[in-house]
Amino acid sequence: MKIINLGNRHDASFYAACELFNQITRNPKSKLGLATGGTMVDVYANFVNLLKMNDVDVSNVETFNLDEYVGLSQTHPESYHHYMQKVLFEQYPYFTANNIHVPIGDAADLDDEAKRYEAMVRERGPVDIQILGIGENGHIGFNEPGTSKESETRVVDLTESTIRANSRYFDTEEEVPKQAVSMGLSTIMSAKRIILLAFGEKKKDAITKLASGIEDADVPATILYEHPNVEIYVDEAAAPDDMGRED
Ligand code: GLP
Repeated sequence: MKIINLGNRHDASFYAACELFNQITRNPKSKLGLATGGTMVDVYANFVNLLKMNDVDVSNVETFNLDEYVGLSQTHPESYHHYMQKVLFEQYPYFTANNIHVPIGDAADLDDEAKRYEAMVRERGPVDIQILGIGENGHIGFNEPGTSKESETRVVDLTESTIRANSRYFDTEEEVPKQAVSMGLSTIMSAKRIILLAFGEKKKDAITKLASGIEDADVPATILYEHPNVEIYVDEAAAPDDMGRED
């Protein structure tokens, strides 16, 4: 697994968008694993442009999001449902509603909802391409340090570090939900192909740990070493100091 420095977020986002686009053109019934967060905003903007310019039929494409905050309604401005509507589904309104899957964070029974979501991903999957961001602490989805490799979709407690990092999207830190419904590491690993993106100085530490080659449950993204088809693209600011050059 090699970490590739693409120099800037624009080019890396365009690359990921092209890969999603190519996947759909190869197979109109593709299953896309989608992520949220600041990292993905330009990916979706580029993806929407490609879809519009090429008038692509997405009616049979199925999408599976990684996670959702507990307690936020689907219309809450910081819910991942709302994020996805804003950046993708409203921009290119030709996806089939029943083919869009995001965990429901305000379900009456969250454990049931997590089980339902896991069973649905396993039954309708596998995902063809999963795009991933990474938390400052190395989390993927909301799988925080210490998460078991066997984990499936479930309710998770967010760490202080994640709450602090994600408070930039809320008015106050108190408003950041303390839990989420998240695909587990084993759910994520069931995707056929994974593309992870990381941009900015704040991700450098997590990417440097990911570059170590040592699998470590305290850096959840290192489970990706076990996946046969992973690509990792970073910008200059997130790139480890030693990119493996022998100089
Ligand atoms: C969030 C999400 C992750 C995301 C990560 C990075 O907490 N659960 O799926 O990849 O943190 O977010 P951002 O791209 O905003 O830095």
